[in-house]
Amino acid sequence: MKKDLLTLQDITRDDLEKIFELSAKLKNERGNQNFKPLAGKSVGLIFAKSSTRTRISFEVGVSELGGYPLYLDQSKMQVGRGETIADTAHVLSRYIHGIVIRTFAHADVEELAKEASIPVINALTDEFHPCQLLADMLTIKEYSGKVDNSIRLAFYGDGRSNMANSLILAAKLTGMELVIAAPAEEAPNRELIGDAKNIIWEKDPVKAAEGVDYFYTDVWVSMGFEEERARRMEIFRPYQVTSALFEKAKPQAKFLHCLPAHRGEEVAADVMDSSRSIVFDEAENRLHVQKAVMSMLMGK
Ligand code: CP
Ligand code: NVA
Repeated sequence: MKKDLLTLQDITRDDLEKIFELSAKLKNERGNQNFKPLAGKSVGLIFAKSSTRTRISFEVGVSELGGYPLYLDQSKMQVGRGETIADTAHVLSRYIHGIVIRTFAHADVEELAKEASIPVINALTDEFHPCQLLADMLTIKEYSGKVDNSIRLAFYGDGRSNMANSLILAAKLTGMELVIAAPAEEAPNRELIGDAKNIIWEKDPVKAAEGVDYFYTDVWVSMGFEEERARRMEIFRPYQVTSALFEKAKPQAKFLHCLPAHRGEEVAADVMDSSRSIVFDEAENRLHVQKAVMSMLMGK
């Protein structure tokens, strides 16, 4: 694997299979006290945005791998007062063995990774959320046995969000069929899709549901976009994931959501709370895949 995980473009299909294999093993053997690849190591967790799942799963993950998790509120670091990202990267590289970072601009994470001699993992930027997608793909593999062109997933909502972008990269990596149901105002990034034939943008939310194995949605107002709330509520309203959409889908279709969810906005409460919903398996898998990735990148 490469030094860093900034987007899914940093991993190959072969890396993905290794992550699946190690994640499944760590999940089965959770509580086994013998696997401590981060013993004697510290991992800095820099957060500039709120988090429940990511922060907790990384803190617990580092600790279960035998390492010391160091939570760092970005606003309390000197980088928040004008110290450069490069200087921060050089200093952190002298103290700790890996960085996990959640922030706004993706370019900041790229710069941090370029300047740091230690591995950097992207824990969400405005543009990408690779750790979430690794957990999502593991969840699909658990339910469907594979993640390839036999899987059809429809994402509903903000076609330009970090989740939509990350799903595009996941579809490119695995060949999975991806339908992005989004309005023209927030249509998916054409450049990112490139010439991939397995990724389509569908404006009609009902049409997008045809033959779907997995429905996926995310908040309509991502962190950092709060001032656009009124406009977003308006344009995404027709893209709520409802139980009626499941009638167009495959009989066993399931519901995925990176969480946090807003019932009555991007997802109807009856879908979120139904047996179709596998969102807590998905959330749990964050822990297992991140442990796998950290042991592969930082455990040497
Ligand atoms: N899905 C996810 O990243 O959740 P948090 O924002 O709670 O970390
Ligand atoms: N798109 C959401 C994902 C949260 C996990 C956000 O960036 O706020």
